[in-house]
Amino acid sequence: MDGPSGSGKSSTSRGVASKLGLRYLDTGAQFRAMTWWMLQHGVDVDDAAAVAAHADDPVLVSGTDPAAPTITVDGTDVAGPIRSTEVTSAVSAVSTVPAVRGRLLREQRAIIGDGGIVVEGRDIGTVVAPDAAVKVYLTADPEARAVRRTAEMSAGTDITATQQDLLRRDRIDSGRATAPLAMADGAHHIDTTPFTLDEVVDQVVALVEEAS
Ligand code: C5P
Repeated sequence: MDGPSGSGKSSTSRGVASKLGLRYLDTGAQFRAMTWWMLQHGVDVDDAAAVAAHADDPVLVSGTDPAAPTITVDGTDVAGPIRSTEVTSAVSAVSTVPAVRGRLLREQRAIIGDGGIVVEGRDIGTVVAPDAAVKVYLTADPEARAVRRTAEMSAGTDITATQQDLLRRDRIDSGRATAPLAMADGAHHIDTTPFTLDEVVDQVVALVEEAS
């Protein structure tokens, strides 16, 4: 499941995994956890060489239960802190660094193993799991994405600022040299703007059932 921020990837992926009894992996949370560690250790996230030098240092553990996804870094639960404004602003820079992507790619493939999992991110259908049984690319209008993301954040968060940040991250994520955000060959494109979450989950469940 790939797509830009706020397209509905997380809620849809978790809903599909729960309905079908599959595991779930949020690769965005892994990039956020790497970013959280870099900020904690005073690494300049705009210095790609400095980030690369530390790419293998954090120990990440990702839980794969769709009802209760967890992520720890060096044994610390970071599920809350990785959603902070500081991490959100810095994550796209860290995600452009090939050493970070290479390290996470190995771990993502190890977690995927023989399958039975819904994996969400930006490069899942193109790079991480090009042989996936079903590939889905979710999008939504920028306004709808900003409204959804703002609703998830603390009260008083500004919709215009959220939309600007989403569009800034889209530009970086789509323009980077290594594994940019892109629709994979053979992916099913769903524009989620007019649909409820349950409707999108049902559409994806139907695609999985057709494929199996
Ligand atoms: O999905 P989420 O918004 O939490 O992802 C945070 C960031 O992590 C994205 O903006 C992107 O820079 C990066 N990311 C990535 N590749 C993935 C998943 C996320 O580069 N597979």
